Amino acid sequence: MAKGLLGIEDLERAEIEAILARAKDFQPLQNRSNKRLDLLRGRMIVNLFFEASTRTRTSFEIAAKRLGADAVSITASGSSVAKGESLVDTLNTLAAMKPDAIVMRHAASGAPHFLSRHLPAPIVNAGDGTHEHPTQALLDALTILDHRQSLEGLRVAIIGDIVHSRVARSNIYLLSKFGAGIVLCGPASLLPPKMDRLAPGARITYDMREAIENADVIMMLRVQLERQNESPFPASEYYPFYGLQVEHLHLAKPDVLVMHPGPINRGREIASDVADSQRSVILNQVENGIAVRMAVLERIMN
Ligand code: NCD
Repeated sequence: MAKGLLGIEDLERAEIEAILARAKDFQPLQNRSNKRLDLLRGRMIVNLFFEASTRTRTSFEIAAKRLGADAVSITASGSSVAKGESLVDTLNTLAAMKPDAIVMRHAASGAPHFLSRHLPAPIVNAGDGTHEHPTQALLDALTILDHRQSLEGLRVAIIGDIVHSRVARSNIYLLSKFGAGIVLCGPASLLPPKMDRLAPGARITYDMREAIENADVIMMLRVQLERQNESPFPASEYYPFYGLQVEHLHLAKPDVLVMHPGPINRGREIASDVADSQRSVILNQVENGIAVRMAVLERIMN
C-alpha cells in the first residue's frame, strides 16, 4: 500500500483482500474481555476531525488503543482552526509532535491527498468532502462477507443522496473491483446520470422498487443537507419515494442485508422497523469498523 490510505479507487484488489483478511483476524478480539494487543505499542496516532463524527472517530481511537498505540483526538471546534489557523499550519503543528500516523476527516474533497504530499506521517482518509471514505467501504465489505461467500455477482442497491456521498463513491469503487452488480437510486437531483461512469456496469434508476428488486444488499444513505445550498427536492416528498419501508423488503432476496453507514435519520430515509429488523446489519457495520480500522492502522504503520 502507498503511504497511508487515501481512497479505494487506487487500491489493488489484493490489497483490499489483505486488509479484509487481517480484519477477520481481529473480529473475535471484540468479544474477549482483554481486547488489547500490543502490535503498535509506543506508536502515536492523531485523529483530526474537521467534520462531525461519532462512529468513525470513536472507532479509529478504539482501534489504535486496541493495537497498543496512543491516540489523541482533535476536533476542529476545539482546536486553533476555530481561531483561524490554516489547514497546512494545523497539520504542520501536529506533524512537529511526530505522530506515527494521522487520521483525518475534512469537508474539502482531496484535503488528505494534498497534505500527504507535504507531511512525512502516513495519512488515513476518514472522509474527504464528497469524495471518498475508504474505511467505510472496507467495513461494509467485511459486513457483507460475514453473510455471503463472495462479493462477486451480488446485486447491491445504493439508495439516496448519491451525489454528495463519499460512502457511495468508495463502495462503488470497491464493489465494482470485486464484480458486484451495482444499482444506484435516488431523486434525479441527487443522482446525476453521469454517476454510472464511476463503475463500469453500474445501473441508474429513479424507481426505488426497481432498484430493490432481487437485491442481496440494500445500502441506504442519509441526505447530506450540510452539503447542499438549496433544497434539491420538496422535503415532504423524500420519504414516500426514497425512504426504505418494510413493504420494500419483500421485493428483495429473502435474506437481503439492510445497511446504512449512519447516522440514520429514522422516518426520513429509513423506517424504524426496518432499521431495527432482523435484516438490518447496521450495528454489525459499526462493530466491524473497529476490526477494519485496526487492520488499516497496522498495515500503514508496519
Ligand atoms: C458517513 C460520512 O460521514 O460520510 N458517516 C460515517 O462515517 N459513518 C455518512 C453520513 O454522514 O451520512
